[in-house]
Amino acid sequence: MADALPAQDDLIRAVRAKRMKTFITFAAGMAGLLFGLDIGVISGALPFITTHFELTSRLQEWVVSAMMLGAALGAVSTGWISFRLGRKTSLMTGAALFVIGALGCSLAPNVAILILSRVLLGFAVGIASYVAPLYLSEMSEKENRGKLISMYQMLVTIGILTAFISDTIFSYGGHWRMMLGVISVPAVLLMIAVFGLPDSPRWLASKGKFEKAKEILRMLNTTDAKADSELNEIHESLKVKQEGWGLFKENKNVRRAVYLGMLLQAMQQFTGMNVILYYAPQIFKHAGFANTEQQMIATVICGATNVLATLIAMKTVDKQGRKPVLKIGFAGIALGTFLLGVCLYMINAGFDALWISIFAILMTLFTIASFAMSAGPVVWILCSEIQPLKSRDFGVACSTTTNWIVNMIIGATFLTLINTFGIAATFWIYTGLNVLFIVLTIMLIPETKGISLENIERNLMEGKRLREIGV
Ligand code: BGC
Repeated sequence: MADALPAQDDLIRAVRAKRMKTFITFAAGMAGLLFGLDIGVISGALPFITTHFELTSRLQEWVVSAMMLGAALGAVSTGWISFRLGRKTSLMTGAALFVIGALGCSLAPNVAILILSRVLLGFAVGIASYVAPLYLSEMSEKENRGKLISMYQMLVTIGILTAFISDTIFSYGGHWRMMLGVISVPAVLLMIAVFGLPDSPRWLASKGKFEKAKEILRMLNTTDAKADSELNEIHESLKVKQEGWGLFKENKNVRRAVYLGMLLQAMQQFTGMNVILYYAPQIFKHAGFANTEQQMIATVICGATNVLATLIAMKTVDKQGRKPVLKIGFAGIALGTFLLGVCLYMINAGFDALWISIFAILMTLFTIASFAMSAGPVVWILCSEIQPLKSRDFGVACSTTTNWIVNMIIGATFLTLINTFGIAATFWIYTGLNVLFIVLTIMLIPETKGISLENIERNLMEGKRLREIGV
């Protein structure tokens, strides 16, 4: 009986640690969900906003891409904010901006305030897209890190789908203000959840607060010995000082890794995936589905396809490797956008057959699935793997910012491209780019499956070709 008590204590401690970890995953995951909600919400709201404020194509593009501008600014500055104030305070700032931005969009009396609120919202998304995965990886055991990045991507796609569903519900009465405002509810929940989060022990240790770091590690681990050994590891890794900008300037190999990360994110965005997400209702209108309800339901199917295909990626990416998955993905997107362009060309030329519209929808779904199974998660995984330890924060900040800048360029040019070249040719431009990306993947992208990060770094620093740093 006397022996049973310590065992019971251990059990209680293990249950507490598990609960804490589940809460952490849930709270940081909420940031991913909000990232997705904000990406997804605009496609359904845009047609109503356009009518309400009588927007030109140029202003529509601005309403869409103001968020990406904010996100790029957020991603650039968040490296500094999260280093200075910590991951928790940064997430809290992000959550507060989510609330203000969502309410601002929903109540906007004119388009200028709407655009400004979208920039604020974007700033929050920029913070969330950088800090949440970083916080998650710092709070998790090494073995789970890869899985956590895919899980985060999964939550982004669930957020997009949820936004599409909520847009559909509100579209019946044309309530665009509700579509944009309802996002403040999960944002408030995120704020409350972040209150309960512990700060990252790694960040605390980097600020010299070892006692506090130890306390949190003991809360997260089942035994004191495990907690102490983790603190030792943190101690060791802190000896590697982050010197991103300095190393970037003086070391050619560090520059190659940073450029590769930026190229990967630019490729991900130039696939054209977000064009389909942001403008899905318009695409379906061109395909002959004229009423808003039909377009919105088709959009929900797009969101669901995105989630399901991401699930497949989570299962395959560690088995098949990054490179084959990327090549197949780009080939799929090239084929999908090409055939979608052909359908839209025929519809515009006056062919009025139902099968063409259905085929156009199928090709849209095929393109989305090809992206979600490949470039969606794989690019984020590769970007976190290829940067040398000493300049990892800097490298990831550069690639994440590139993601948002190119995202903005895509959102800000799509309607202009359609007005200039027509919708079919616009998709064919993306076809051409995806073919180019197959070539770039073969020539430049390394295969990092099953290779330790130390090995990748050694190969990079020895000056091996980029495509060989994973071998
Ligand atoms: C991309 C986003 C995109 C999302 C779609 C992410 O990997 O970075 O731009 O909207 O996938 O699921």
